[in-house]
Amino acid sequence: MVLIVGIGTLYAVRSIYRRHFHPLSQFPGAPEAASSTKWLYKTNRQGFPQHEFERLHKKYQSKVLRIAPNELHISDVHQYKVIYSQSKPFPKNPRFYDGFSLNHSLFAETDPALHKERRKTLNPLFPRSGVFKLEGVFHTKAAIMMKKIDRLREKDLINLYDAFRCFTLEVVMEFAFARSAHMLEEEESTFDSWFLRAFDSLASGLWTTHEWPALRKIGSHLPKSIVKILNKNVAGFLDVIDFAEDCVNHYEKHGNTTSHPVVFEHLMAVSHPQKVTEALDIMIAGADTTSSTLTAGVLHILSDEKVQNKLIQALQAVLPNDQGNLPLLELEKIDYLTACVKESLRIGMPVPGRLPRIVPDDLAHPFTVDGKVIPPGTVVSMSAYTMNYSEELWGPDARIFNPDRWLQPESKNLDQYLSTFSKGARMCIGQNIAVGEVTTMLAYLFRNFKLSLPPDFERPKQKDLFTMEYGKPGLLVKFEAVN
Ligand code: HEM
Repeated sequence: MVLIVGIGTLYAVRSIYRRHFHPLSQFPGAPEAASSTKWLYKTNRQGFPQHEFERLHKKYQSKVLRIAPNELHISDVHQYKVIYSQSKPFPKNPRFYDGFSLNHSLFAETDPALHKERRKTLNPLFPRSGVFKLEGVFHTKAAIMMKKIDRLREKDLINLYDAFRCFTLEVVMEFAFARSAHMLEEEESTFDSWFLRAFDSLASGLWTTHEWPALRKIGSHLPKSIVKILNKNVAGFLDVIDFAEDCVNHYEKHGNTTSHPVVFEHLMAVSHPQKVTEALDIMIAGADTTSSTLTAGVLHILSDEKVQNKLIQALQAVLPNDQGNLPLLELEKIDYLTACVKESLRIGMPVPGRLPRIVPDDLAHPFTVDGKVIPPGTVVSMSAYTMNYSEELWGPDARIFNPDRWLQPESKNLDQYLSTFSKGARMCIGQNIAVGEVTTMLAYLFRNFKLSLPPDFERPKQKDLFTMEYGKPGLLVKFEAVN
């Protein structure tokens, strides 16, 4: 009894301190957010926290919002390049990034010096010219997908969301592991795959394992067989890890048996488990992000007949090469296609939410937003949602899918505001590959078929699970042959 009263008193005192005496108590926000991280956890679990942050920024007329006892969300678009800078980026917040269980991978590394070293090692895999070395994989996988769509299209609507996920997963797997699990062909009459279900179940538990790191730690010390019994969500993903390990073993025995670069080639000096983690990291970072872009893009293109017609007309000029492929170099010359890709990246926001960083204590000037100094050690975050939907940056039609915005005389200026891949030293290393995949896939689809949304089309619900995921029924599309 004494213990319960003691703990209760401690919590009450801590809550009073955090609300009224903590250095962040001057910043507005939901009162529960000041007391504990539970408010943020609850808001994350509701599916799209950025809407709630936006509402509260408006309610309190403030560009800084307290979203947890030691965390502020910022909506001042001029601070983005300060936080996510090239020369002195604010470091990633370990509490958040450890939650991905990808220890010391390029994405999850929070030590700036270790990150710099790993990025230097992997950078040579990702130049623009590197995309052309992977282009053959794009064509092979796109051709498998087109053939299957052609076979299935008369019987039923096609779930393009699943198809895109299989496509992007297969491409990135070939790059990360020098092999793929052939998800595009796994099911006879759908694009479902055990890999997609494994990813879904892992992602569904993401905010919970972020909130309770102890669960993760306990899980990592238990034998795999026990974890599989205790937690079905994790069980599927343990099979993905087994697959990754198998690929590393194969690579260590046989070397690169493909004709394109693979991530392992640049990881010869790292340990076996670290190789597995890094390859998994690239696969997770590169798969659902790219398919989410494609899903958003196709959804918007099919919702606007004018956009769709313009894209089809622009594509009609491109001819397949001898192998029947649509060469990326040619596709990149089609301005309207490029504009559709950029607009899909902008409005689709595959990583829509906060990317938490810590205010360093060695800044030349105090970090100040809305006239208030934010103390060093505070977690701060901004999001692609704030940046990509900002009317200040994009104009009054910021929330409308309008590829033409990229085709105006002053459009070159807009690239600097596109924050889909973040900015600075921690920005996406795979963006050239992603853009190449999205460009290729949009061209194949709209060049080969006539697509439309069915009359009773149901918009899939979006959910921010760090990556933007789409719920049931996926993206169901009607396919017809082009005349
Ligand atoms: C449209 C597709 C993509 C989007 C929207 C996207 C977005 C992002 C964002 C926002 C970050 C920064 C995350 C943070 O600061 O926490 C990031 C980092 C990263 N991305 Fe991507 N990404 C995409 C595709 C890819 C692809 C295809 C790959 C690999 C083949 C990849 C690999 C990575 C890696 C390894 C990092 C960590 C980089 C670092 O910290 O140095 N991404 N991505």
